[in-house]
Amino acid sequence: MDKYEKIMNLAKRRGFIYPSFEIYGGAAGLYSYGPLGTLLKENVKNLWRYFYVLNEGFIEIDTPTLTPFEVLKASGHVDEFTDLKAFCKKCKKSYKAEDVKRGDKLVCPSCGGEIKETSQMNLMFSTILGEDRKAFLRPETAQGIFTDFHLLYRFVREKMPFGVAQIGKGYRNEISPRQGVIRLREFSMAEVEVFYDPKNMNMDPSNLKGELPLVVDGEVKKMDLKEAVEKGIIEHPALAYHILLAYKFMVACGIDDEKIRVRKHRKDELAHYAKECWDIESYSERFGWVECVGIADRSAYDLTAHTKASGVDLCASRRGEGRIKKKIVAKLNVLGPIFKELTGRIKEELEKMEPPAEKKEITLDVDGKKIVIPEDGYEIVEEKESVERFIPHVIEPSFGIDRIIYFILEHSYVETEKRGEKYNLLRLPAYIAPIKAGVFPLVNDDRLCKIAKEIEREMRLEGLQVFYDDTGSIGRRYARMDEIGTPFCITVDFTTLEDDTVTVRYRDTTEQERIKRKDVPSFIKNQISESLKNIFND
Ligand code: GLY
Repeated sequence: MDKYEKIMNLAKRRGFIYPSFEIYGGAAGLYSYGPLGTLLKENVKNLWRYFYVLNEGFIEIDTPTLTPFEVLKASGHVDEFTDLKAFCKKCKKSYKAEDVKRGDKLVCPSCGGEIKETSQMNLMFSTILGEDRKAFLRPETAQGIFTDFHLLYRFVREKMPFGVAQIGKGYRNEISPRQGVIRLREFSMAEVEVFYDPKNMNMDPSNLKGELPLVVDGEVKKMDLKEAVEKGIIEHPALAYHILLAYKFMVACGIDDEKIRVRKHRKDELAHYAKECWDIESYSERFGWVECVGIADRSAYDLTAHTKASGVDLCASRRGEGRIKKKIVAKLNVLGPIFKELTGRIKEELEKMEPPAEKKEITLDVDGKKIVIPEDGYEIVEEKESVERFIPHVIEPSFGIDRIIYFILEHSYVETEKRGEKYNLLRLPAYIAPIKAGVFPLVNDDRLCKIAKEIEREMRLEGLQVFYDDTGSIGRRYARMDEIGTPFCITVDFTTLEDDTVTVRYRDTTEQERIKRKDVPSFIKNQISESLKNIFND
């Protein structure tokens, strides 16, 4: 059994991940999260929010997965979001061409014959809204952000740069997915679109501090981020910063930093909207290097495309010399003698108007009265606006949450032996672990059970997911918690009856200490929040 099989067995047995609809034979590319998987996934999403929404201060939105045709036509997905499909005439099977490429030939994995027939296949799932409006299930969350840009820009009070985050489902009709949880047709994405002014990045240079395992000339080299930017290896400082942040997120998830590398897309790999893109890849024993995050420079591609197609101006403003603008200026020496005390109100209304193309009489409605302004009662003057309009550029970190969860499981999985028996544990960071603590009476004694149940209740009221268990030996109960990555176990024993203390057992060291029973919830909460804060203290 290879590591993938071991992980997937554990995932199924302990309620992390199941193949979906298995009673009907399953469906390739569809997996469900069980009770522990759902908790784990929620914790990963919240860690992501901790990075991007809390610490970076980005705003988060939630837009529909059903997306009208026009949006994805404008974004280029209708025409460009394709994979090359290879079809074996003999076996009647289809493959993603890049999966069956052997040298310069496409070879059928089933019959070994050469495949000659290829075609481009669009990866979007199409559907219909109502009776006849063409639509798709979104292939990325990003388009819901771009199409609301004008509202979001106003929401942040027209400040640049700003980031908009979104977590949600994405859909891709992958050609014959054969890589289990690594290639899904319905998946969870976490994306940020960082909008910025290309002429004024507003970036603090001290942000470029840290090292990254970059693939340079085919080899992984730890490289200082500043150096990578200075040498032009990463072209864009904001892109470099976001690669570093995404890398830190992966490590904070518990993914082994020795099995992460950062690789630049070749020109032929770039998505249609990307000018430059870097993948953060993680190493799996079965699948090799797998993309988990893509950080793309989308430049002004999307907002330009949607401005053109929708006719809605998706621009931002910066101080500077803008367009020449014409405006009306009232001539009071002409209007005063005619309109007397009404002159002030007339000036106000007149100067709000768009100037006519040629000088002429203007008819105005002022407080219900029709007023005719003679041609010599005003001037048209030209002035330069003090703001210029521009289409913001975008840096986009995009995370595949399901792949990240798989790698968290693979890299935190440890096989050891205890008293001659196999012993497995998941070394999950405490803030990621689905269950924070096991709560046990040492033995099944009514007095101990009562106290342990009270502790369980107190911890749940404090928002901690805990698991009460009074069955089997205490060793078995610890083992069950270790196997699902529970970082702490609280045990009530006979000493508790004497001095109101309990033991805390730590998963990774198996060490134990006694703490006051009343301190248990705050002690565990503190351990979790300290480990979270430490992420940013390095
Ligand atoms: N939005 C990035 C992607 O679709 O991969």
